[in-house]
Amino acid sequence: MDRIRIVGGQRLNGSIPISGAKNAALPLMIASLLTPDRLTLKNVPNLADVNLLARILRNHGVDLAVDGKRAGPAHHIGETFHLCARDIVDTVAPYEMVSRMRASFWVLGPLLARCGQAKVSLPGGCAIGTRPVDLHLMGLKELGAEIDIEAGYVIAKARGGLHGGRVVFPKVSVGATHNVLLASSLARGETVIENAAREPEIGDVAECLVKMGAKIEGIGTSTLRIQGADRLEGAVHSVLADRIETGTFAIAVAATGGDVTLEGARPELLKTALDALTKTGVEVQTTNSGIRIARNGHGIEPVTVETQPFPGFPTDLQAQLMALMTTAKGTSVIRETIFENRFMHVQELARLGADIQLHGDTATIKGVKGLTGAPVMATDLRASVSLVIAALMAEGETMINRVYHLDRGFEQLEQKLSRCGAQIERLTG
Ligand code: UD1
Repeated sequence: MDRIRIVGGQRLNGSIPISGAKNAALPLMIASLLTPDRLTLKNVPNLADVNLLARILRNHGVDLAVDGKRAGPAHHIGETFHLCARDIVDTVAPYEMVSRMRASFWVLGPLLARCGQAKVSLPGGCAIGTRPVDLHLMGLKELGAEIDIEAGYVIAKARGGLHGGRVVFPKVSVGATHNVLLASSLARGETVIENAAREPEIGDVAECLVKMGAKIEGIGTSTLRIQGADRLEGAVHSVLADRIETGTFAIAVAATGGDVTLEGARPELLKTALDALTKTGVEVQTTNSGIRIARNGHGIEPVTVETQPFPGFPTDLQAQLMALMTTAKGTSVIRETIFENRFMHVQELARLGADIQLHGDTATIKGVKGLTGAPVMATDLRASVSLVIAALMAEGETMINRVYHLDRGFEQLEQKLSRCGAQIERLTG
């Protein structure tokens, strides 16, 4: 199993190209199930989750060709995917695959809309909480799906196809919004989704669906009004910039000090996170090509932050911010309101010398003078990268074990950081 070795204490200077967003690329790839025509996606990040979803889609009969390197910095490896689901040959998404990546459950809505039936494994347990799918099923039932759960599988049928409906989510869910949005774009008539998640990745998918022939009003708001099409067509769409990768590198620069431009980053996608960074005393500047982050000399001010659905502070940046706060000039408070068990990084950060107290959903972080390198274990995607940030700040060597979590969501992480001066290397095997 690969490990990452980091020797901390180097400042980061230079530029980092921001990749296409994993959380947009996955549902966009799934949208290919909705049309027999070709869907071309540009700027797809090369990630383990993307490759796993490609395998799952191939199982359903999607033909996938990959070509081209996008323009821009030579070291960027955003790829162009051509996906074509001319015939869906299998409407079953098996446990072995869905259990490895929760987002693959989102094939349920599109398969049901296109084929009138689907059998998709329940995603199963997850390291960051129970993460049920009740909202997904509730939404699809409103569109006319009959749903049974048998032996760990969701068996869904829509005799005569899905129809429009009014879906009022009692709680904001990114995945349930994607599932219902995708399905409704091929359902008969109008669907209204209320209390929809407003994450930019949902807007990106909605814009692609519009190119494919769906009519969607309210993109970017919490009420989506979708006129389904009888048949969706092919389209060409470019995956939007990854705001979580952007925020992660911004926090890394804040943590080490230095001056880095995040090329292709879009500040409007992570305003709350950038505001929090500004409060810590870091310089955040919008440039023609992206965002410049700089910290020279002075220490980090503590902050109080609560995770919220977009446009609030993203839960996917909570662990990274906590790593930064471990050496702030005082006490910070971070409250996690989205996932009940998203604090696995706390114990590992403590191994590097962090002083963090947990009470329910709230972490109180007392800034210490400095962290010291140690062997640590990556637990989930965002927790893993918080350990990378902590290791970059720490004195001496940190060995991060089980780094396959990082490969799920960060494209060329070591290369991007080492080009800016980090001492980081992957030890394979
Ligand atoms: C997506 C993101 C993930 C991010 C999360 C919250 C992708 C691939 N993943 O995950 O990176 O951390 O949004 O921004 O885009 N819930 C229910 N019932 C449901 C569905 C969800 O109770 O049917 C709960 C969850 O347990 C959680 C909350 O709703 O407490 C939010 O989850 P959700 O927004 O659905 O997250 P994901 O779509 O799984």
